[in-house]
Amino acid sequence: MDKIIVIDFGSQYSQLIVRKLRSLHVYCELYPYDMDKNVFNDLDIKGIILSGGPKSVYDLDSYQLDKVIFDLGLPILGICYGMQLIAEHFGGKVVRSDTREYGKKFIDILDHNSLFLGLRDTEQVWMSHGDYVSDIGPNLEILATSDGIISSIKHKTLKIYGTQFHLEVNHTTNGMHMLENFIKLCQIEATWYMSNYIEMAVKDIKETVGNDKVLMAISGGVDSSVAANLIHLAIKDNLTCLFIDHGLLRLNEAEKVMSLFKDTYHIHVVKVDARDYFLSRLKGISDPEQKRKIIGDCFIKTFEQEARKFGDYAYLGQGTLYTDVIESGTKTAEVIKSHHNVGGLPKDMSFKLLEPLNKLFKDEVRDLGLALNMDERLIKRQPFPGPGLAIRILGEITNEKIRIVQETDHILDEEIKKAKLDQTIWQYFTVCTDSLSVGVMGDKRSYEYVLAIRAVTSKDGMTADWARIPYDVLEVISRRMVNEVKGINRIVLDITSKPPATIEWE
Ligand code: XMP
Repeated sequence: MDKIIVIDFGSQYSQLIVRKLRSLHVYCELYPYDMDKNVFNDLDIKGIILSGGPKSVYDLDSYQLDKVIFDLGLPILGICYGMQLIAEHFGGKVVRSDTREYGKKFIDILDHNSLFLGLRDTEQVWMSHGDYVSDIGPNLEILATSDGIISSIKHKTLKIYGTQFHLEVNHTTNGMHMLENFIKLCQIEATWYMSNYIEMAVKDIKETVGNDKVLMAISGGVDSSVAANLIHLAIKDNLTCLFIDHGLLRLNEAEKVMSLFKDTYHIHVVKVDARDYFLSRLKGISDPEQKRKIIGDCFIKTFEQEARKFGDYAYLGQGTLYTDVIESGTKTAEVIKSHHNVGGLPKDMSFKLLEPLNKLFKDEVRDLGLALNMDERLIKRQPFPGPGLAIRILGEITNEKIRIVQETDHILDEEIKKAKLDQTIWQYFTVCTDSLSVGVMGDKRSYEYVLAIRAVTSKDGMTADWARIPYDVLEVISRRMVNEVKGINRIVLDITSKPPATIEWE
């Protein structure tokens, strides 16, 4: 498939460039600036974008560009630091400005023929830089200026362009239009649609796996469910899914996941009842970090024990996303070494990895799920943490506290959905504290757990605000919880944002 590659020089916006191009249906990949040269042999590459970055091109420790890219004959667009690398390469001069230019600016466009085709003479853009191109040298020409400063350049004969501003951020009003113009200059077809991806991925999985078998641990969450459906489409019954019930799931979750996989997806799935094992290992443990470590270890041990029963499985399916690949800084490893779910598997269990989502961002995985005709409610589900309810139970985990969290979470879910707040609240759940408080019920003193409601609005979980649930909805939720759930007599609402708090309590 034709693609544009983005070379990352450390800009906070590099992933954003990739996502913007993909939203314009152009397949795009991100590479570090010191990438393997062999990547350039890929004939599918139709254009290159050089990102911005925190360094200065004249610094001794600046991130250097592999000059080989200028010999490829491909269209190149440099953004900020990327433009300065281009200017320097072609004999221009980059200098430090007296003041850092940051924020909204207007550019005067001098040439409307390439990058700025169809745009007005003046456009609003977003600047964020401390250096500027003071001299373009003999090979470049100026496309736009801002207060007399060069803000866009072009090579006189080659399809090489640069912008001092960030066209990938929304504050650059017509940034998407500029990106579309660059796509046209690359003469690349916009074919990145999830329906096409399914076809490609299925072919790829078939060729990779052949007649071998794939084992896959599923959680019931979006990523592993979509990955399993995609693999199943390719290899049918040569896929077996393993669902570990650790007892820290939402009310009736295990039954729901099993029924979904068996009856709706028709995927071969095996449930492992590890509830007693997890709970016994967690007995007496109150420290949040210790809880997480123990749960991680229990997962590995349970998976290992069960996987051995399957014998001849060559591949391990995983719902790894492109963000995980970028963040780990490495290309997908051939043989499994460590992973958050199955890391630390013994050396004699050397599965090969099958990660059919490792080119996709989370929102693309959701689109893929919909393209695979999966239930929209599952696809749009709120995130559920790997350690499950364990990090929503403060202090020692007991069967009573698990029941309290499961039952109250269920009520909260019902009422939030009834009030149609589930589409605007990003994540909502209950937390069983380790505090008991005095109450009075039916003329009798009670001494029971304090339960907290946590509900947040967020885009990506990195920052969050507490959700303003209307008082009348809260009133119903509170009344139902204390009436219907044994063991609690007080409900409190968490009204902290993230930061300073986190979304989960542990
Ligand atoms: P925090 O509590 O860090 O949560 O503000 C941010 C988002 O991440 C989820 N979360 C986890 N997800 N394993 C996961 O898979 C974990 O250990 C974990 N801890 C937090 C949390 O639910 C929220 O969506």
